[in-house]
Amino acid sequence: MKGAEGSRHIGNSRMKAGIFYFSATGNTRQVAFWIKEDLEKKGWIVETFNIELFQKNILKMPDLRSYSLVFVGYPVFAWREPFNVRDFIKRNFAEKELNVVQFFTYGGILGNAPFKLWLVLSKGNRYFGKIHIRAEDSHPVLRRKWTMIFIKKGWNLCKDRALLSERLARVLRRFEKGKIAYEVPHPLAFILDVIGIAYSKGMIDLWFKKWIDFEKCTSCALCWRYCPAGVIEPMEKEKGGQVKLIPRFLKGCIGCYRCVNICPFDALRSFFTKGGIKYKPYGIFSDYTEAGFSPPGK
Ligand SMILES: Cc1cc2nc3c(=O)[nH]c(=O)nc-3n(C[C@H](O)[C@H](O)[C@H](O)COP(=O)(O)O)c2cc1C
Ligand code: SF4
Ligand code: SF4
Repeated sequence: MKGAEGSRHIGNSRMKAGIFYFSATGNTRQVAFWIKEDLEKKGWIVETFNIELFQKNILKMPDLRSYSLVFVGYPVFAWREPFNVRDFIKRNFAEKELNVVQFFTYGGILGNAPFKLWLVLSKGNRYFGKIHIRAEDSHPVLRRKWTMIFIKKGWNLCKDRALLSERLARVLRRFEKGKIAYEVPHPLAFILDVIGIAYSKGMIDLWFKKWIDFEKCTSCALCWRYCPAGVIEPMEKEKGGQVKLIPRFLKGCIGCYRCVNICPFDALRSFFTKGGIKYKPYGIFSDYTEAGFSPPGK
């Protein structure tokens, strides 16, 4: 294989990929594993990492330079990359002379997410392109009850497996030829950026706000165990003579709505999800258990 400029595995051993993903509700994780599957079929050695496990100090960063190609995956939130992913890349990837690719899942409107991510990911690295897969029916705004007339099944699933393979193959061709890629901003998307910045800075509090139904909460602990940002803590509350642990929301929420979506008792709701609407948290919990970690309970 000709290999990309700087590839560390030309002619001596099998190619090795590191796939780093953040996935609030499972779509991006699923795509990460599809990429893994395709690469393994081609004879690559592949390692996958859930970014939130680094952020919670459950995993230690591997040597990034041991990978021929590094993939970074994320869901588009508010027309841009989730800022925990941005921070992670800035801290760990800058100026490493890595060969990098980005992949993402989204509901419908990208804004300048790929451009913004490219800006940080390509800093001091060689960038070979993006793989984007639309999870058609996934945006919480769309997932109101009346939209269910149109959204029949397969909630929040990225279904287009073949498209993924096609896009991965394209990126790999660029990598093999050592053909650097670039992302350009969409002029109109800057309007969305302004709203996106306000959102991500928590200025639009409504987006972040969660309401708890004291009666419904069973103190099951799922929400505070699995908040990717670690910003929920249990707090004791008394109501009508009943004392129990309920979630308390701290600063630093990334607005992923995982807590709302995984609550088995519909005790949480956000402005957009209004309760009663559920993502399936595909595989996220198993990332924790496979890393040998069982988050503390009550
Ligand atoms: C808080 C939030 C904001 C979102 N914002 C956007 C958006 O601006 N544009 C878009 O196309 N999809 C948006 N989505 C949809 C997600 O990008 C999509 O559901 C993605 O596949 C989720 O991936 P995950 O399951 O890996 O977390 C948003 C989803 C959430 C939860
Ligand atoms: S508090 Fe909820 S919405 Fe905010 S980061 Fe944690 S799980 Fe996501
Ligand atoms: S997931 Fe729901 S039921 Fe469980 S502690 Fe959180 S709010 Fe309560």
